Amino acid sequence: MMEMMEMMEMMEMMEMMELMMEMMEMMEMMEMMELMMEMMEMMMMEMMEMMEMMEMMEMMEMMEMMEMMEMMEMMEMMEMMMEMMEMMEMMEMMEMMEMMEMMEMMEMMEMMEMMEMMEMMEMMEMMEMMEMMEMMEMMEMMEMMEMMAHTRSSAFRARFLDNPDKVLSQNAWDDVEWDEDRLAEAKAKVAADEVTLSEEEIRALDDDAGQHWDVFYAKNGSRFFKERNYLHLEFPFLVAPPAEGAGPNVLLEVGCGTGASVYPLARQAPNHLVVKCFDFAPTAVEVLKSNPDYAALGSIDAFVWDIAKDPVPVDHLAPNSVDFVLLIFVLSAIKPDDLAGVLDKLYSVVKPGGRLIIRDYGRYDLAQLRFKPGRKLDDHFYVRGDSTQVYFFTKEELAKAFETAGFAVVNNTYDRRLIVNRKKQQTMYRVWLQSMFVKPEAEASQ
Ligand SMILES: C[S@@+](CC[C@H](N)C(=O)[O-])C[C@H]1O[C@@H](n2cnc3c(N)ncnc32)[C@H](O)[C@@H]1O
Repeated sequence: MMEMMEMMEMMEMMEMMELMMEMMEMMEMMEMMELMMEMMEMMMMEMMEMMEMMEMMEMMEMMEMMEMMEMMEMMEMMEMMMEMMEMMEMMEMMEMMEMMEMMEMMEMMEMMEMMEMMEMMEMMEMMEMMEMMEMMEMMEMMEMMEMMAHTRSSAFRARFLDNPDKVLSQNAWDDVEWDEDRLAEAKAKVAADEVTLSEEEIRALDDDAGQHWDVFYAKNGSRFFKERNYLHLEFPFLVAPPAEGAGPNVLLEVGCGTGASVYPLARQAPNHLVVKCFDFAPTAVEVLKSNPDYAALGSIDAFVWDIAKDPVPVDHLAPNSVDFVLLIFVLSAIKPDDLAGVLDKLYSVVKPGGRLIIRDYGRYDLAQLRFKPGRKLDDHFYVRGDSTQVYFFTKEELAKAFETAGFAVVNNTYDRRLIVNRKKQQTMYRVWLQSMFVKPEAEASQ
């Protein structure tokens, strides 16, 4: 038993040993494995490092590449920038040049504008001067006419210049004869003038004639034409009472303006003169009607009518109804081609026996000779600075026009005066027409 036990112990020991051995082997193995693992780990680490290194290298390469690229890009950029700068410089230069050119241009334009303005101002000054002169001339004429009215019946009427040395001794000389030289000079001056305006411009002036006169009245109102308080003295029949049993006389004024003629006449004959008057400038008619005497007298019928272009307004003017017609500086304002039509219309409204009184510009009057080149519209027909038009008649053509319309001449003369500005020692040769025509009684019965 003992042996057995020993044997068993031995066996157990052996087993134990074996186990131990196995364990040791196991442990070795484990150690080995651990070692291997460590090695693996190390390898892995190395690998990782390597990879990192590689990555780093790659990165570096990449970076280098990128740097290179960047460098290239930068260089390209720089090149581009240089080009751009060059371009900009060029552009700046161009801009500068353009600016300079522009400035030069602007300077030139300014200069031109200045010059134009100066020219315009000169022109305006000239025009104003001319208008002033025309105004003065008209005023002079009006004053002269008034003076004439006062002197007509007096002993002072005939102031004849028989001694040329005495010309400055008076303000005016009557019935001044023109010598051959003066007439030749005037004819040469007028003949040298040419029509420079185009047909369209001339047509437009005629189309807008009423508007131009309207502007004149809008600017001057009733200040320009002074009341003519001498007409009833010069033509007493205008205000004389009508024949027994006959109705009031009818006076018609053509182109009445603001009423400088009609008011003094209407006031002279408040109970037996009916006054009809018209103008194609609406402002003139408005101003005329705004006179307190228009309503107070109640004998004036003022209306707007363009006698050259429009038919007779029968509501104002019945056929054969007018006794007297006043045409004061109005026929000269009408285009010569329209004169015949105007006279036909007047003929239709004038009574048989009715008289027409005309005062107007005569050929080679100072006003005609004063016109500067560029103002001529047709033979002896001109445009003033304010665009109103004026014609200068001979007494022969006036008579012919009236006779063609059916009227007969009562009188038809030139009023040639020498006006003297003694202060300035200047002489002015004025030529006006004074005419009277009648619608023959016999004509009416035909
Ligand atoms: C020189 S001013 C004379 C005004 C007025 N007779 C006087 O002596 O006070 C000429 C006038 O004729 C007028 N006129 C011109 N042509 C006319 C026309 N075709 N029909 C009506 N009036 C006209 C103008 O408007 C202007 O008032």
